[in-house]
Amino acid sequence: MKILFVSSEVTPFAKSGGLGDAVSSLATALSRAGHDVRILLPRYYFISKNTLRRTNGLLEIETAREHYHAFLYTTAMPNSQVKIYFLDCEPLYGRNGIYGYSSAQEFPDNPARFSVLSKAAFAACRSLGWIPDIMHANDWPTSLVPVYLNTTEKNTEFSDTAGVLTIHNLGYQGIYSRDHFPELGLGWEYFYGAGFEYYGNVNFLKAGIVSAECITTVSPTYAREIQTPNGGFGLDGLLRQRSRDLVGILNGIDVDIWNPAADPYIPAHYSYKDMSGKAACKAALQKELGLPSDPNVPVIGMVTRLVEQKGISEVFGRTYGCMRKILETIHVQVAVLGSGDAWAEEAIMNYSAQYPQFKGVVGYNERLAHLIEAGADFFLMPSRYEPCGLNQMYSLVYGTLPIVHRTGGLADTVVNYNQELGEGTGFMFDDLTPQAVYDTVGWAMWAWYNKLQHIQNMRVRAMQQDFSWARSADEYVRLYEHAISLRKAR
Ligand code: ADP
Ligand code: GLC
Repeated sequence: MKILFVSSEVTPFAKSGGLGDAVSSLATALSRAGHDVRILLPRYYFISKNTLRRTNGLLEIETAREHYHAFLYTTAMPNSQVKIYFLDCEPLYGRNGIYGYSSAQEFPDNPARFSVLSKAAFAACRSLGWIPDIMHANDWPTSLVPVYLNTTEKNTEFSDTAGVLTIHNLGYQGIYSRDHFPELGLGWEYFYGAGFEYYGNVNFLKAGIVSAECITTVSPTYAREIQTPNGGFGLDGLLRQRSRDLVGILNGIDVDIWNPAADPYIPAHYSYKDMSGKAACKAALQKELGLPSDPNVPVIGMVTRLVEQKGISEVFGRTYGCMRKILETIHVQVAVLGSGDAWAEEAIMNYSAQYPQFKGVVGYNERLAHLIEAGADFFLMPSRYEPCGLNQMYSLVYGTLPIVHRTGGLADTVVNYNQELGEGTGFMFDDLTPQAVYDTVGWAMWAWYNKLQHIQNMRVRAMQQDFSWARSADEYVRLYEHAISLRKAR
């Protein structure tokens, strides 16, 4: 099968969160299964042209307001046969940011930046003489791919190409004033006709959901949650209407990168058969962050975007959050790596200054993320909602027991501790409140101090979980076949 992924993020070239990881590892798994897989990504300014090779002549992309000129560049994907193409269009992507210079402020021309990316996918395929069977869009930035498939490209050489849209996060929909609509290169009849209209505004994701042959989410539980008013971010009605073509397929993790037996970022390797390397990683983590070096005190790690989705108010909120109470009443150490909302970055710095057993690093640091996963004993992930979540899976295979809110992909990957049987792979709470986070952290620490054998057994079980992509990639192939048959029937 010929499959084109279109995405605003692809690891290792451009990543702000799990989206980049998910796209590149799914693409790689599909290519290993024998499919012809290609990816289109913008050439952001921080992706140096020196490392890339130009492939084609000029691409021309027309909207009602602009005429863009672009080039396609390519390079080898690490450890993968996937062909990656970079859309080089200086006025749109020649900046040092994916969505904005900081998470607080997005670029004002994002509607043009990302609709042109989706539109250019067709021009790129034409210039390569390669028409895919599937175009796979990811989140709102590329959700116009299925819209173009059903409008401007309906009766072209793409008439048999099916559109699949994966929702990695329904919390971001790409909602803009209707004044931007002409930038999308579609006639006004499609403002309502293709499902863009959302309370008078343009909603990118909504139009993608209306148009795609099939829609996926990144875990089965999240597929159910988004069809309820609580999890639907205003689109639950539409998602219920499309429920026949909506499935949840759990993400995998890239086991070439996240594997405690081979991880190049960590100072000692280990497996469930020999955990001595984990103790060495814990000692290295304590040393690097300046935490008191002590193998007996449990270390709780966090690696996260510091945004509301991740439950940061319940943990770090100044008067509301439970971190102070955790630090003042439980004998633990806490290691946090994150960046995002300014108030939370400041709170983390303040805790670090005030409590010797708390160390926070503000910033984005791949190596430290690996060291925290390996060196911590527990991993706190109290997300308000979590479409899949990769960090809890990394934690499980690193034998670092997750403490999580029972939601989305967290509910699908973690098995709650059963203290009678001494079984499970982590610790869960049902409602996200500061008290619930505190109580569950307390429960996990109680098990550490009183049931260490249970913790050791849970670690072994956690590390034996198979989260590799091969299984999920099979499910995508079946879904693609279904999407192609739906397209043919249209
Ligand atoms: P989301 O995509 O919603 O942020 P995921 O759990 O799916 O959540 O993926 C987060 C990814 O981003 C993981 O690979 C995680 O290690 C990484 N990550 C998040 N914040 C940081 C950071 N400050 N430094 C390094 N890696 C980070
Ligand atoms: C999004 C979600 C996260 C998911 C990731 C990859 O960023 O927030 O839960 O793991 O996409 O699909």
